[in-house]
Amino acid sequence: MKLNDEVRVFWEQGACGSGKVIVGELEPLTKEWYERIEQYRYEVEPFIFSIAQFPRHTGKKLLEVGVGAGTDHLQWARSGVECCGVDLTEAALEATKTRFALYGFNSNLQRLDAETLPFPNQSFDIVYSWGVIHHSEKPEVIVSEIRRVLKPGGVFIGMMYGRRSSFVFKLWVRHALLGGKPWLSFADVVWDKVESVGTKSYTNDELYAMFRDFTDIELIPMLTKSDTDHWPRWISKFLPAQWGWYIGIRARK
Ligand SMILES: C[S@@+](CC[C@H](N)C(=O)[O-])C[C@H]1O[C@@H](n2cnc3c(N)ncnc32)[C@H](O)[C@@H]1O
Repeated sequence: MKLNDEVRVFWEQGACGSGKVIVGELEPLTKEWYERIEQYRYEVEPFIFSIAQFPRHTGKKLLEVGVGAGTDHLQWARSGVECCGVDLTEAALEATKTRFALYGFNSNLQRLDAETLPFPNQSFDIVYSWGVIHHSEKPEVIVSEIRRVLKPGGVFIGMMYGRRSSFVFKLWVRHALLGGKPWLSFADVVWDKVESVGTKSYTNDELYAMFRDFTDIELIPMLTKSDTDHWPRWISKFLPAQWGWYIGIRARK
């Protein structure tokens, strides 16, 4: 099986961000279900607003790569952005299409592997992708597709996983050190233990290299709940953002 087929099988188990710990017994694909997902997401990841800055882009044309359950996609639509979205899975497409119909918004949604985007060159003002590209077999191919479909001066906004993070350190202690395999690297542990198989994680230098054909590259490290959980409170309070699991990215074509 090719890696992206395995990735797809994993994410078909349920649209990302709609696990039982979040939605409990709520009926799937109802307004209550979506609202619970939305409330939880922005309680836990409030920094999404400061990275995406949805309302600043009213009237622009957006492509979202990896819409998942469509929570951020809805914020784009609510902000008056013309939306187009893709995802590898039917689960994500169904969740996002149903959500848009419930809330009365439109988006051109397609199921596909973002390593090949079926859009002409220079189609979009913004491409947004939160926590997606690192799951693919060839992330650098997605980044080059994103650049191709952006208009000159268009902006990529997204998030990818940071390897030198508190979360990855804890994962390494658990699976490599305590698992009797201290030779495993941080990258190995993320590859095998985080979400779908083959998940990648990056240093700042690696991300600058991946986005080298863009200009105005900004990397914004963010501490997440996964970084701060399980440490004694006095330690988690002093963890620097640079040790965050999420790296926000803005880059201009
Ligand atoms: C961690 S979820 C993130 C979803 C959403 N952006 C969010 O933040 O909730 C990863 C998503 O990326 C999608 N995905 C993974 N690889 C992909 C690829 N090669 N092309 C398109 N979508 C992909 C998965 O199907 C899944 O919906």
